[in-house]
Amino acid sequence: MKTSFATSIVRFFFASLFLTIAVKSGIPAELFSSTIPTKVLAAANSLPDPIQYPQYTSKSGGWLFFAPDTWTSGFFPATLYALNTRKSLCGATTENGLGIADWKTLARSTSAGLIPLETDPGERKNIQHDVGFISFPFAEELEINSKKPDISAVVAINNFAKALAARFNPTVGCTRSWDTKDTNDFQVIVDNMMNLEVLFLSAHLTNNKSLSDMAISHADTTMKNHIRPDGSMWHVIEYDATTGAVTKKRTAQGYSDSSAWSRGQAWGVYGFSNMYKHTNEDKYLETARRLATFFLDNIPESGVIPWDFGAPVEDRPPDSSAATVVANGLLMLSKYETDTHLAKQWSNAAIDILDKVTKQAWSPSWQSLLSQGTVNMPQKNSLTGTVYGDYYYVRAGNELLQMALAQCS
Ligand SMILES: *[C@@H]1O[C@H](CO)[C@@H](O)[C@H](O)[C@H]1NC(C)=O
Repeated sequence: MKTSFATSIVRFFFASLFLTIAVKSGIPAELFSSTIPTKVLAAANSLPDPIQYPQYTSKSGGWLFFAPDTWTSGFFPATLYALNTRKSLCGATTENGLGIADWKTLARSTSAGLIPLETDPGERKNIQHDVGFISFPFAEELEINSKKPDISAVVAINNFAKALAARFNPTVGCTRSWDTKDTNDFQVIVDNMMNLEVLFLSAHLTNNKSLSDMAISHADTTMKNHIRPDGSMWHVIEYDATTGAVTKKRTAQGYSDSSAWSRGQAWGVYGFSNMYKHTNEDKYLETARRLATFFLDNIPESGVIPWDFGAPVEDRPPDSSAATVVANGLLMLSKYETDTHLAKQWSNAAIDILDKVTKQAWSPSWQSLLSQGTVNMPQKNSLTGTVYGDYYYVRAGNELLQMALAQCS
């Protein structure tokens, strides 16, 4: 076929324009690379029998597996669901590698190992309030067909919500996080903001408003007590279970009681953006903005997000999972933000964080997608891959596609 010179010029112009846009947008190509499905399928094929789930890697990048009764067990099946979503958004091509598995079937079979946790408190003695995190794959399953939801996913969401609701104390106004020997010592961690979703989902499925009221009460109490005037957050607030009074404000996973643990701050950004999504209450939007502003203002010049913003530079490993969690929080904030200028600012910040964490932590020779995660620094567990860091990386890619901020491949 003969192509005229003019047509070639026009084609060249559009090709360059496209390249310029792709480069300018700063969206890392790795976010949509075939390496993702390849690694995730390899991990799915290597799950132990009876089932255990990957949580973090060794310092050389090999997954370590943990019993279902671990707070992180939902993230791997949820990642399989995220690839199912991506396949429905992008189709399967040689380039994106999404055709190598039936992600939905794999996600369902992998989630099945979580079912015994639903109704047997003995099976879930270690996860306590983390029933919220554990429910993520079932929340993803509900999204596949919201008109005719899969009944086992509905049952799972309702069971996990019921388990979380049983941890609610109306005097404190929160669901209890960690169990303590002294039952009057009622501890609430910022991570718990992520667990409220299961209460909203179940409230919707069962028309039981008391569940969403608990979520709202938990968020309001957290808003009142967990946030410092500068917009940073304490990790743990301890309450007197009888009077509801605050007895202690401290850290567990951070550097000090007065510093800001970055993943906790990221949970907060996501959690309050999610509250705004569910309620349309301005106070949650304002809170999410404050938490996001603190996070963004405290990222060091290098762009590498440290495990704790207040830790001394010589004792400050990065946490790539804080980066991917906050990217999802910022994208959700951007989606529901009422000020269009700010909305752009949040999504640009999310893209910038994803770009930098990719340059810093994308590790082709590791089994995880990213390295440089900090699981628990006080326990000296850092510089690993993390299953949640990877999950939120994949999910951020999907979110960018759904918000039309990125294109497939
Ligand atoms: C709503 O949920 C709460 C918490 O699980 C429970 O105590 C209550 O019985 C439920 N109400 C109905 C009508 O099922």
